[in-house]
Amino acid sequence: MKIAIGCDHAGYKYREEIIKMLEASGNEVNDCGTKDGNSVDYPDFAHPVSKLVDSGKVDFGILICGTGNGVAITANKYKNVRAGLCWEEEIVSLIRQHNDANIICIPARFVHIKQALEMVFTFLSTDFEGGRHGRRVKKICI
Ligand code: RB5
Repeated sequence: MKIAIGCDHAGYKYREEIIKMLEASGNEVNDCGTKDGNSVDYPDFAHPVSKLVDSGKVDFGILICGTGNGVAITANKYKNVRAGLCWEEEIVSLIRQHNDANIICIPARFVHIKQALEMVFTFLSTDFEGGRHGRRVKKICI
């Protein structure tokens, strides 16, 4: 799979661990940074990931910031992006099964790294259910 990842300073350590896991399992990762703990602005990293997902150049995106909300709000400005904020496994499954989410937003200051890695695994391995959920997803765009 092709996967884009981006974060701000709150999430750069998570980004490193997630990239290692993704590459170890044969995925192609488009790394949009940030790469260290220096303070940055989350939209500068959320936009590149969102553009890659919106244009279909990658299959999925992963965004990380302190609360996950700044990157989620930014990503959901794009027509073809459905970004979901996740802090536990069941929500991860449901944003794929019911919302066909194509970006997972992780709040680094509120989930442990092990939990974040498990969430990414679940996100990438759960299918959209379609059916009535497909009808609802089609109604999202204005
Ligand atoms: C950075 O301190 C913090 O504001 C950011 O990571 C994020 O939580 C914004 O939504």
